[in-house]
Amino acid sequence: MRVAVTGANGLLGGEAVALLAGRHEVLALSRGPSRLPPGRYAWADADLGDGRSVEAALRAFRTEAVLHAGAMTDVDACERDPEAAWRVNVGGTEQVARACRALGARLAAVSTDYVFDGESGPYDEDAVPNPRGVYARTKRAGEEAALILVPDCAVARVAVVYSGREGAKPSFATQIVEKLGRGEPVKAFADQLVSPTLARNGAEMIAELLLETPYRGVLHVSGATVLDRVDFARRLARRFGLAGEVVPVRTADVRLAAPRPLRGGLVVARAAGLLQTKPLPIDAALDRFHDEWMARRGG
Ligand SMILES: NC(=O)c1ccc[n+]([C@@H]2O[C@H](COP(=O)([O-])OP(=O)(O)OC[C@H]3O[C@@H](n4cnc5c(N)ncnc54)[C@H](OP(=O)(O)O)[C@@H]3O)[C@@H](O)[C@H]2O)c1
Repeated sequence: MRVAVTGANGLLGGEAVALLAGRHEVLALSRGPSRLPPGRYAWADADLGDGRSVEAALRAFRTEAVLHAGAMTDVDACERDPEAAWRVNVGGTEQVARACRALGARLAAVSTDYVFDGESGPYDEDAVPNPRGVYARTKRAGEEAALILVPDCAVARVAVVYSGREGAKPSFATQIVEKLGRGEPVKAFADQLVSPTLARNGAEMIAELLLETPYRGVLHVSGATVLDRVDFARRLARRFGLAGEVVPVRTADVRLAAPRPLRGGLVVARAAGLLQTKPLPIDAALDRFHDEWMARRGG
């Protein structure tokens, strides 16, 4: 099958390309040159924000399925530059959706727990979104563009994505490990409940959703455990045998451009029932993350 992956230089997109290359004909799309290891995929340098190049590349490839993981993901940068956030997260998703509609392709559009306000999580797929902040609102609008324009569409929501893969972008988890490893204390929000998602596990679930199920609509595909960020950081420290201090802080005490959902988290029971690949509980995910981390250090 001809499968395209947007955001291929990113945490989830990179894992998806690694997973699918060799098993399918893969077109990897991101802006600029590839930062992925070489493999059996074609590369397209296409900007989600320019209104046409992603759509043109998808059409030229005669794409049959798209895993759309590209997005402007820095929530504070989105708040400061709403025009860019709209262009990439809504306009870019619209480009992808238009191409899928024209080609009759299936789409899995990746989205976020931030579509919820964080008043009463964890949330299942039937909970009503109430996004706060520019990132959250543009991601919700992107969900709607995908679901309205593409008849064969699934929206896959993840949260707090992390990867230990060689070359993977930094994340909350890698920053915790690196700082504690240098003997520095780390701060973590005690009042943010989240569902951390190991990129590999998320990419496996989304690829299966896209290519091996007919499921349409929203599906939550984060990790299986809801926990606060202090707990997450301390489990990371334990798994890596790091002794440093994790300092709990409250969200309201830190100046941030974008609002953060507090009682967030995703219920993944539906994905667990539907998919062969299961959402990983936190300790199993941290074991895999540890393996990824050691592999990249050659240890
Ligand atoms: N990261 C998280 O914690 C998180 C949480 C919830 C949901 N999500 C969602 O999960 C999906 C995948 O994100 P991720 O975690 O893999 O984040 P990521 O590592 O930031 O990946 C996003 C990718 O999109 C690319 N991109 C950004 N702007 C672009 C543009 N104008 N044109 C083309 N490509 C562009 C980025 O390119 P560069 O590498 O060049 O910047 C990056 O490769 C997104 O839909 C995101 O909203 C992520």
